[in-house]
Amino acid sequence: MPNDLRVQAEQVIERCRYLAQFTEESGEIRRTFLSPAMRECMHTIQGWMQSAGMTVMTDAAGNLRGRYPAMNAAAPCLMIGSHLDTVPNGGAFDGILGVMMGLALIEALRGEKLPFAIELVGFSEEEGVRFHLPFIGSRALVGRADAGMLATKDSGGTTIAEALESFGLEPSKIQECVMGDDAVGFLEFHIEQGIVLESEDRSLGVVQAIAGQTRAELTFTGRANHAGTTPMHLRQDAAAGAAEWVLEVERKGFKTPGLVATVGDFRCSPGAVNVVAGEARASLDVRHADDDVRHWAVEGLLASAASIAKRRELAVTSKLLMDQSAVAMDGGMCAMAAEAVREVGISPLSMVSGAGHDAMILQERVPSTMIFLRSPGGVSHHPEESVRPQDVENALATGLVFLRHTFKPVHKEQSV
Ligand code: HGY
Ligand code: MN
Ligand code: MN
Repeated sequence: MPNDLRVQAEQVIERCRYLAQFTEESGEIRRTFLSPAMRECMHTIQGWMQSAGMTVMTDAAGNLRGRYPAMNAAAPCLMIGSHLDTVPNGGAFDGILGVMMGLALIEALRGEKLPFAIELVGFSEEEGVRFHLPFIGSRALVGRADAGMLATKDSGGTTIAEALESFGLEPSKIQECVMGDDAVGFLEFHIEQGIVLESEDRSLGVVQAIAGQTRAELTFTGRANHAGTTPMHLRQDAAAGAAEWVLEVERKGFKTPGLVATVGDFRCSPGAVNVVAGEARASLDVRHADDDVRHWAVEGLLASAASIAKRRELAVTSKLLMDQSAVAMDGGMCAMAAEAVREVGISPLSMVSGAGHDAMILQERVPSTMIFLRSPGGVSHHPEESVRPQDVENALATGLVFLRHTFKPVHKEQSV
């Protein structure tokens, strides 16, 4: 007879797969900020949270926020959570697993009250798919949802504020999303999304730091012309120029230790087989644990874009979408998490995350840490993303030890 935690672990996985049905694209998982699919997903989770004894609300940034009370009213609050949104054609566990883990831990308490409350948060938007601006939900919790952010437009010209209003929310109240002063810690469970835990045959990791990331968009402009009649030496081919730069990005990644550099979105226009491209847009994603190296790499890539464009008689512009510094997780929270992992008989791997997470935003305002679960095959941001039941069971056991024993709420210095 499987033990309770194994049954719960299977249920966590089942719920993640069940929620994958809430998607904007049939046949794949795509759940973006404030979409109808997101609303259905939130509605389902809200029901599970309420059945687990939580009071639930949706805040003005679209975050789903459930509260599990402490044994006494004036207690501090531990936040647990992750994001509800996905990348296009994503996996069933990135983000949502962390919310289901928090829900399962609260269910496992079976009404037991702790010396602290738990706030379970499903962040509305972490990936940055719709507005090319990641961390909308978690920025609101740390007070960074400013007018500039609300004015950001999607490809259709809709602003974040307008999108929030269409979802039935009140962007004018977005400052009310800021986490309470009672928040004394944030714990995020997440799949590793990489190959390290698997290659070391480890079940769980504790994240000590999260790499910084730059996101930008470059536009190369040449001259559209007839593909059949325009001689090669008389072309200003934006696609060829941008493609040359894409290889530069890859070369920079290979040549710079610890750097990853990616062009994931590449579009030419007018986009016809028989027309030399007049314009080519390329995204840029550069990450490194050291911000100076990352900034050096980005500067170098912008310079090479300019020299390629000059040589090819193209114009090139760049738009910085995000410059997120590397973030060290809180040492105390990491130690408490690692101790809980050890108490369940597992040796925690100390890790740096190449993927960005809401924890890097929450850490600005509350001591935060992350527990990584092994990603089989290191696959993520892909339909084959998965997680092992045993690792989920290990993480649940760890979470209960963390809640009952190793997490010691250290009151934040009261802001004067
Ligand atoms: O792209 C990332 O780092 C994360 O998956 N949002
Ligand atoms: Mn992701
Ligand atoms: Mn994620």
